[in-house]
Amino acid sequence: MPRLSDVTRGRILYGGDWNPEQWPEETWRQDVRLMREAGVNSVTLGVFSWSRIEPRPGERHFGWLDRLMDLAHDHGIGVVLATPTASPPPWMGRLHPDTLPVDADGHTELWGGRQHFSHSSATYRRLAAAITEDLAARYAAHPALTLWHINNEYCTHDHGDEAAARFRTWLRHRYGSLDALNTAWGTAFWSQTYGDWEEVLPPRRTHYLKNPAQVLDFRRFTSDMLLECFTAERDIVRRHTPHLPVTTNFMPLWSGQDAWRWAEEEDVVSVDLYPDPDDPSGAQHGALVQDMTRSQARGPWMLMEQAAGAVNWRPVNRPKPRGLNRLWSLQAVARGADAVCYFQWRQSRQGAEKYHSGMLGHAGPDGRAHQETRRLGADLARIAPHVAGGAVAADVAVLHDWHAWWVSDQEGRPSRETGHAEILGAWHRALWRAHLTTDVAHPEHDLTGYRMVVVPTLHLLTDRAADNLVAYVRGGGTLVCGFGTGVVDEDDRVRPGGMDERLRALFGIRILHEWWPLEPGATVEAEGGLRGTLWSEELEPDGTADETLAYRGGELDGLPAVLRKGRAWYVSTLPEPDALRDLLTRAAAGAGVRPVLDGLPEAVEAVRRGGLLFLLHHGRGDVAVDVPGIHRDLLTGATVTGRVTLGRYGVAVLAP
Ligand code: GLA
Repeated sequence: MPRLSDVTRGRILYGGDWNPEQWPEETWRQDVRLMREAGVNSVTLGVFSWSRIEPRPGERHFGWLDRLMDLAHDHGIGVVLATPTASPPPWMGRLHPDTLPVDADGHTELWGGRQHFSHSSATYRRLAAAITEDLAARYAAHPALTLWHINNEYCTHDHGDEAAARFRTWLRHRYGSLDALNTAWGTAFWSQTYGDWEEVLPPRRTHYLKNPAQVLDFRRFTSDMLLECFTAERDIVRRHTPHLPVTTNFMPLWSGQDAWRWAEEEDVVSVDLYPDPDDPSGAQHGALVQDMTRSQARGPWMLMEQAAGAVNWRPVNRPKPRGLNRLWSLQAVARGADAVCYFQWRQSRQGAEKYHSGMLGHAGPDGRAHQETRRLGADLARIAPHVAGGAVAADVAVLHDWHAWWVSDQEGRPSRETGHAEILGAWHRALWRAHLTTDVAHPEHDLTGYRMVVVPTLHLLTDRAADNLVAYVRGGGTLVCGFGTGVVDEDDRVRPGGMDERLRALFGIRILHEWWPLEPGATVEAEGGLRGTLWSEELEPDGTADETLAYRGGELDGLPAVLRKGRAWYVSTLPEPDALRDLLTRAAAGAGVRPVLDGLPEAVEAVRRGGLLFLLHHGRGDVAVDVPGIHRDLLTGATVTGRVTLGRYGVAVLAP
């Protein structure tokens, strides 16, 4: 199987989306010259070029792309070639309205933006396959081609009639019979029992709450249909170039796609990442996405897109302050990226993203952003021989599952405040602040290699996953589990007792009497100075726990907020950030997990990759970090003896 290392060959890929079809050809030549000067060694071509290649049905105009591929190759720049199927040309929607997606209210989404294709449309699939076939045939032997990039951020929905037909086929395959579907969906409730397959629909506009099991299956179906679109194009390009890897770029921590399942179908896992430079937890959010992508890739991965400065899709779009682009790029490398790429190389002057930054912005080559682009290119070239291909060491796994996310963000639940992604982020942030490096794992993965496993929340837990957690603890692992876990089975059916009985036995819980969600901003107190937010539970222990921290005051006074039975911890609230960090630090110490480095200042992130120690300073003042021994900083060449000082957004990459 071709791999990312076949493309990187000891380098870190550096570059981004290049959309030269927006520019005259003399600009292309200026581009490649500036790219070389900036250390760019990879560009992504063709992402949205369908109407340029096929301006009228069945035509093919490849001459411009031939010249670009040659130009890149002549300048030593490799090409990540995209299939252009994320934005069909206007003629397609006009001639084939069946290619257009229909939303849950029955409105058709038209051309004029992008991603206006239905994953279920046979016509779309046929036309996408045809252009992919011709693209692959034309460039299979081109020496610039290094990697295939299929489509772009697969994310479309369709609730229309063709999708409905495919949904029924998908359901027949899953359940075999209508009786089994009725049982799985609990259709006895509200007179929803289906007597004929034709009655079964995608979740469309309804008067009141929808059937949650139907919604869950529709989300599974949507992820699977998009995946079919991906694998169809992947198989075409593979036939032409079996030696080249294939990827598609994920959106970061996006709910619409079961990225565990998708990653299994890719040769290279890549992600687009746009933390908000104004968000104090932006760096941690980046770290979570990076840990997740590395874990999906089971090794080095690609940062396919990020912004050199501002994006244009938040209500207020602030640029990255001086040094932040470099810091966050090196953070990605520390956490396993072997590619640092951007949307996009040259900032557009027209179109919907003309205010989105580029590696070469409107300010031109002398602009700050481009000067920083050059500096980063030099930094990456300097460290690449030492870092590319290196593995990241993590003793802790954080569990995440899309199906659990899909059931937990539906209507009609105990609280709207308990967002899966927010809770996952809060727990990961606590581990990040405790300087513990984490992988992210699926609850059914083999966990035996980790000293500690953390479950922020997994509302849906399959039998296999529950058995896996129990076996992990029996085998000597430390498990720390957050509230709302193991509530439903894979059909979204509430487990007897309101929580999986294997988990209750594991943590020493006899009865879960009630959930007590908290109003926004409200807190509950517990022993040990612990203050909880979002949620609390009325738990009756079975007397087997070794340690409890009880709620103090209020309705739950004296009942356990936290239970520890041997190596299994249960936390029935979301502790405030410091308390969660301290609790996890304690659990980690009990599991024999040490922080990456002792005595690290709060603002300094430390990660070990290969034999290297990355120190990343997320603050603006100077900070001193004690590092025992003698090291060489690969970025500066300086020898570091015992202590290194990092300035504003400073980074050191230390080799022994
Ligand atoms: C995504 C897309 C790009 C561009 C950027 C803007 O990542 O893949 O085409 O729209 O967002 O941030």
